Order: sequence, then structure tokens, then C-alpha cells
Amino acid sequence: MYTTDRLLLRAFEERDKPDILALYNDPAVIRWITKDYLNPRDLQYFETSIRPFIGRCFVYAVITTREFQDATSIQHPTFVGQVFLLHSMDTTKNRDVTLGIALRTTCQGKGYGTEILRFMIGHAFSALGMHRLSLSVFEGNKKAHQLYKTLGFVDEGRLREANRTPEGSWEDLIYMSMLEKEWRRDEGTLGDDSSIVIRMAS
Ligand SMILES: CC(C)(COP(=O)(O)OP(=O)(O)OC[C@H]1O[C@@H](n2cnc3c(N)ncnc32)[C@H](O)[C@@H]1OP(=O)(O)O)[C@@H](O)C(=O)NCCC(=O)NCCS
Repeated sequence: MYTTDRLLLRAFEERDKPDILALYNDPAVIRWITKDYLNPRDLQYFETSIRPFIGRCFVYAVITTREFQDATSIQHPTFVGQVFLLHSMDTTKNRDVTLGIALRTTCQGKGYGTEILRFMIGHAFSALGMHRLSLSVFEGNKKAHQLYKTLGFVDEGRLREANRTPEGSWEDLIYMSMLEKEWRRDEGTLGDDSSIVIRMAS
């Protein structure tokens, strides 16, 4: 498992299924993570699509808050979302993985996305020895696009009008990446994962 200041990133457990399905059924989340129809997803979809997807990831982590205890109470972990690094056929040769993240709506806007992505970027380059991190983001997802740029990702191309939005207009899919040398150059400003306890999450 991995920990950041406020969050725990751990392997998928069977009890996470309802939370993960709820994430995929939240229109404000699914809108930004698939080019597919935004259909309701049931347990069968979990078994035929989400579970195999988790299995294909190089790293897949369920994100929860960390348990917190003070003199009067214990705050138990709550589900925050998911983050992953996805293999491709050439990951071993080129040390290139695709980064993805989705947080439940109630957990957005608290800085969690920034915290997790800083960790995952540092982890991918320093612990996993990646050379390149890839991702894609819809043109309409201004918040995610801005966050990726802030963290050091660079636009490197776009699939024009590749996604039909729920409103019926067309938007581009923007491809972004970060190279190891860019991360090393900016390392001091992107955060430090040296205090993190690592156990592979899949
Ligand atoms: C995108 C996502 C991961 C960001 O995580 P988050 O925890 O909500 O983001 P943070 O709270 O860390 O804030 C990130 C930055 O976005 C900025 N931001 C917020 N709304 C914005 C907007 N409409 N336009 C541009 N930037 C915006 C914030 O100001 C913040 O930067 P700052 O702290 O320097 O001011 C999260 O919102 C999410 O999971 N969304 C749904 C799924 C998704 O879009 N996944 C990514 C697919 S590519």
C-alpha cells in the first residue's frame, strides 16, 4: 500500500465493488473518463469490464482517506476514488505507462487529485523506473487539463473531434506526457515520495 499525507492507496478488495460501480455511474465522473455511451453500469459490467481492466493495470489503487484517531474519536477510511498506471504492449521496452485517475464527486476540489498525482508521478519515475508517463484528457475537462499542466505534463497532440459530448457537440481528445528528465528537472517543485511505504497494489 502507499500513503500520502491524507490518503491511502491500496489494492482492490471485493468490498470496493459498490464504490467503484458508483464512480462509474456518476455522470459527473464518467463523462470525463470514457468515450463510450454513458449507460448505467451494473455488476455484470464490473465483472466483464472493470475487473479485467484492473488486472491489466501495472498499478491499480483504490484511494481512501487515512484512518485518523484523536482522543475522542476514530475517523474511518472513506472511499475517494481510483488511480492507475496502465501497461501497453511496449511498456517493458519503452518504460512508458498511461496514467488515469477518477475521484468521487464529493471528494473533488479538496486538493486530493494534486496530492495523488504528485505521488504517482514520483512513484512511476523513481520507484518503478519509468521513462515516460502518458495520459489523455478531453478538451472540455478544463480542470484536469489545467492540473496536468501545473504538474508538468505537456500537450503533445490531439485527436480532433474524437468525442461526442452529452450535449451533442464535438470535442478533441488531448494527449499529454511527461518525461523522466522533465520530472527530474522539476523534482523539487513536484513533491517528494521518499517517506512512502511501498507494497505493489495488484
Ligand atoms: C480531475 C481530478 C482528478 C482533479 O482532482 P481534484 O482533487 O478535484 O483537484 P484539486 O482539488 O487537486 O485541484 C486541482 C486544480 O484544479 C483547479 N481547478 C478547479 N476547477 C477548475 C476549472 N474549472 N478550470 C481550471 N482549473 C480548475 C484548482 O484550482 C486546482 O488548482 P489549485 O489548487 O492550484 O488552485 C478530479 O476532479 C476528478 O477525478 N474528476 C473526475 C474524473 C476526471 O476528470 N478524471 C481525469 C480524466 S483525464
